[in-house]
Amino acid sequence: MSAWAVIVAAGRGERAGLGKNKVFWPVDGRSALARCLDAFEACGRFDGAVIVLSQSDMQAYEALAVSEGPFLLVKQIALGGDTRQASVYNGLKALPEDAGIVAIHDAARPFVSQDVIEATLESARMYGSGVISTPVVDTIKQVGPGGEVTSLERASLRAVQTPQTFDYHKILEAHERARADGLSVTDDAMLFEHYYAGVRLVSAPGAEANIKLTTRADFEVLERRSRPDVRVGQGYDVHRLVEGRRLVLCGVEIPWEKGLDGHSDADVAVHALMDALLGALGEGDIGRHFPDTDPAYKGADSMRLLAVVMEKVRVAGWRVGNADVTIVAQRPKLAGYMDAMKQNIAWGLGVAPECVNVKATTTECLGFEGEGLGISAQAVALLVR
Ligand code: CTP
Ligand code: MG
Repeated sequence: MSAWAVIVAAGRGERAGLGKNKVFWPVDGRSALARCLDAFEACGRFDGAVIVLSQSDMQAYEALAVSEGPFLLVKQIALGGDTRQASVYNGLKALPEDAGIVAIHDAARPFVSQDVIEATLESARMYGSGVISTPVVDTIKQVGPGGEVTSLERASLRAVQTPQTFDYHKILEAHERARADGLSVTDDAMLFEHYYAGVRLVSAPGAEANIKLTTRADFEVLERRSRPDVRVGQGYDVHRLVEGRRLVLCGVEIPWEKGLDGHSDADVAVHALMDALLGALGEGDIGRHFPDTDPAYKGADSMRLLAVVMEKVRVAGWRVGNADVTIVAQRPKLAGYMDAMKQNIAWGLGVAPECVNVKATTTECLGFEGEGLGISAQAVALLVR
């Protein structure tokens, strides 16, 4: 007996408010529609699928078939109707006459599993219908026309989803009768209940995950779940080179004829790094946290200020993944100090030295660094949860 899928995707996704049909929206990098087709194809039990689309989404589908396809299972595209019921009917009519079983599925349920699909298929082969369902976790109340509330017994309730799988000719006939009778329903199982001796509900592993994407909140939850728990920040600082000051870079004092001018020890590399960390935290810059008008920071050891910034990082629930610092100086030669600088920074960030990179470059005598007027530094830092 041949098995077909009808995947309805002809809604407008109004409640999701995404500005386009929600089934085309990438969920973790792949659209809901493509994810449904993946699941039905992976089953290996279907002869083909009909997808039901509204006219206004035809172009979007063609683009999707290029970017996320090829959807080899799709043998036909049917035009949607004004209601889901009408869309399903149009999909059913597009199936070949010899179709034996049809699984009707909402494209808005992208997490449908093979187990779920197969459970409905098996049931439909044996009993003529198979509708995936889950126990209800909320207590459901019925509200009467006058506002009177009745509690329903939870243990007897089931929430039904799609796929809903049926003997093809029976469900097609039920749809035709409903059209003649003016009966409108919210799922296909209701038609089966109405015209035949009831419907088979089935359960399967993965049914809880088979959620329907309906509201904006559904998409926000998924977005939060898939958002990588990392933050990146960038920092830049410059200090003037003057006589009579110490030269301190990454907490290492370097003997030289000049040093960097500033309110604190003017460790330009650590300042850039702190700005990168504060940037990743979304916490502004060091000027905001350690104002140079505050006498407390006069001559301050920047490595101690770094410890204060790192405390903010920890309190906010982050730790450093890695950091990369570039010092731009024409002179002095810094190569001999690199290891000590790297160790210092690793210590200050609370990470292994492999997670820190410190490098230095000249500017071929160009610009203020090249002329020896000052030293600049740049840094990037990655924070992880
Ligand atoms: N559907 C359809 N034709 C319609 C209405 C809905 O094919 N006229 C499809 C939707 O594309 C979706 C499924 O039926 O895959 C379930 O419908 P729903 O979740 O209500 O989606 P939308 O109707 O698109 O959303 P909304 O009601 O918020 O506009
Ligand atoms: Mg709808």
